Formats: sequence, C-alpha cells, structure tokens
Amino acid sequence: MIRSAFLQLVLAATLVSSHILFTYPGSRGNSFITNETFPGGMQWTYPCGGLGLSRNRTYWPTTGGSLAFQPGWFSGHATAFLHINIGLDTDGPDGGPMNFTTPLVKPWQLLGPSNGPYPGTLCLPDVKVPENLGIKAGDNATIQIVELAAHGASLFSCSDIIFVEPGDKRIPPINDTVCFNTTEFGFADIYTHVYHEGVTIENPTKSGVDSILHVFTWLGCVSPLLAGLWLLS
Ligand SMILES: *[C@@H]1O[C@H](CO)[C@@H](O)[C@H](O)[C@H]1NC(C)=O
Ligand SMILES: *[C@@H]1O[C@H](CO)[C@@H](O)[C@H](O)[C@H]1NC(C)=O
Ligand SMILES: *[C@@H]1O[C@H](CO)[C@@H](O)[C@H](O)[C@H]1NC(C)=O
Ligand SMILES: *[C@@H]1O[C@H](CO)[C@@H](O)[C@H](O)[C@H]1NC(C)=O
Ligand SMILES: *[C@@H]1O[C@H](CO)[C@@H](O)[C@H](O)[C@H]1NC(C)=O
Ligand SMILES: *[C@@H]1O[C@H](CO)[C@@H](O)[C@H](O)[C@H]1NC(C)=O
Repeated sequence: MIRSAFLQLVLAATLVSSHILFTYPGSRGNSFITNETFPGGMQWTYPCGGLGLSRNRTYWPTTGGSLAFQPGWFSGHATAFLHINIGLDTDGPDGGPMNFTTPLVKPWQLLGPSNGPYPGTLCLPDVKVPENLGIKAGDNATIQIVELAAHGASLFSCSDIIFVEPGDKRIPPINDTVCFNTTEFGFADIYTHVYHEGVTIENPTKSGVDSILHVFTWLGCVSPLLAGLWLLS
C-alpha cells in the first residue's frame, strides 16, 4: 500500500506539470511555455520563470500589503514548500534586482486538495516589509514566489513593484474577490526538530510505516516527499 502510494507520488510529481502565477500585485506575465529555448519549461527558470523585468510595475505600499497567487495544485498527495522573497534595486542583468536573498515571510508548506489539477488561489493579506530594509516611496523592487515541488525542483513567479505611501490612489484596489484562500488547501510548518546525531535515509519503497516515520522524525528538515507519505499512511 505504501509502495503504491510512493509510486503514485513520484508519478504525480514527475508527469503532471504545475504552475504558479501572481494575481496580486500583477505578475511579469505568462511563463507557461515549453519550447526550444526552455525545453524543461520556462517557469522552472531562476529567478523569475524566464521572464525579464516588466515595463509595467505595480504600485504597492511601503509598509507592505496583500499578495495573491495561484499555486496551481495538481493532486491530493502533492505537497510544496513556498518561499516569498523580495529583491531590491535595479542592479541585476535585466534591470531588476541583483538578488532575491531577503525573505518576506517564513517559508511554509502547502498541502494540496485530494482531486486533480486545481486552479486554487492563496492570498496573504498583510505581508509586512521588514523595516530594516529602509524602503521609501519611489523605490523599486521585485517580489518573488518560489514553489518547491515534491520532486525538488522549483517554479518561479515574480511581480515588479514600485513602492508608494500606504493609501496612495495608484495602489490597485484589493478585496475578497482578489484576495481569498481556496478552502481545499492545507498548510504546515516545514521545519521541525533539529538533530545533530545524523539522519537515517531509507528507501521508502521497501519501508514500512514505522521506519518511514522514523526517517520523518530524524530528518531535521522534513522533505515534502516524506511529508506526503506520512500524510498518506
Ligand atoms: C505587464 O505587461 C505584460 C505585457 O503586456 C502583461 O503580460 C502583464 O500581465 C502586465 N503586468 C502587470 C502587472 O500589469
Ligand atoms: C520560447 O519562448 C520564449 C517566451 O515566449 C521566447 O522568448 C523564445 O524566443 C522562444 N524560443 C523559441 C526557440 O521559439
Ligand atoms: C542583494 O542585493 C542588495 C540590494 O542590491 C544588496 O544590498 C545586497 O548586498 C545583496 N546581497 C547579496 C548577498 O548579494
Ligand atoms: C524604477 O523603475 C523604473 C522603471 O522600471 C525606472 O524608470 C525608475 O528610474 C526606477 N526608479 C529608481 C529609483 O530606480
Ligand atoms: C474587487 O476588486 C476588483 C479588482 O480591483 C474589482 O474589479 C471588483 O469590482 C471589486 N469587487 C468588489 C465587490 O468591490
Ligand atoms: C490564507 O491562508 C494563509 C495561511 O494559513 C493565511 O496566512 C492567510 O491569512 C489566509 N488568507 C486569507 C485571505 O484568509
């Protein structure tokens, strides 16, 4: 049973493609393309799904605001880790940020609904901008979402913004038709305990529930694959 669950998990992760798209603030555009330039799929390309800086930045408050996106869930036993980072300035090769090393929120885990490909929306209504960044009105930045899929590769979506004072009329309105959570999603913390003695890595295809749970407990950082198995068991 566990073996077939594992196989299903691997199949779901490798055969079904997912996507992620910013819906608020606006995204850089559509990167759901696979062609000769992006044979593995454009949206898997770091740092912004293969898309360069957009000419149309969205106004967003200096203190922070809402972020809505569609993580594109595909199957019930899939899980993903989500990271939301901010890149500042315009020193990067495309006129965007040089790096995306500043997290805006603590990474967390998303658990998909039990049915097939799923166009759900997730919204974080009040994402704060860290004060120590010293953001002021007129500064440019790019917000990046990284969705680490169950098989370890990551999808990227970016939104280019220009900071304005909170309440500025140019900030696109946000309400609960734009900012809402699809109820089918579940959430979990990523990081649990940290052990320094070492970890036991086993082949889950020949492990029983007990040894899987053993690995699960022993890994300081819970992998999405194991988390998926754990949920199934
Ligand atoms: C910016 O323009 C591109 C190309 O027209 C479009 O695909 C994208 O959705 C726009 N983004 C925003 C934030 O308006
Ligand atoms: C693949 O698509 C991207 C995005 O539209 C485009 O920039 C690139 O030129 C395309 N490559 C080929 C070989 O058509
Ligand atoms: C990342 O970019 C910011 C803004 O340009 C810069 O201040 C910072 O030093 C960079 N960090 C790294 C690790 O390159
Ligand atoms: C912000 O970006 C816009 C266009 O992307 C550019 O015209 C403007 O000079 C930039 N502002 C700063 C302060 O870098
Ligand atoms: C919610 O915001 C969207 C986009 O700004 C707008 O099109 C829509 O009319 C608003 N809905 C309500 C109920 O205010
Ligand atoms: C959506 O779920 C996340 C994670 O639980 C939560 O932080 C956020 O506030 C929710 N969004 C809305 C609009 O309720």
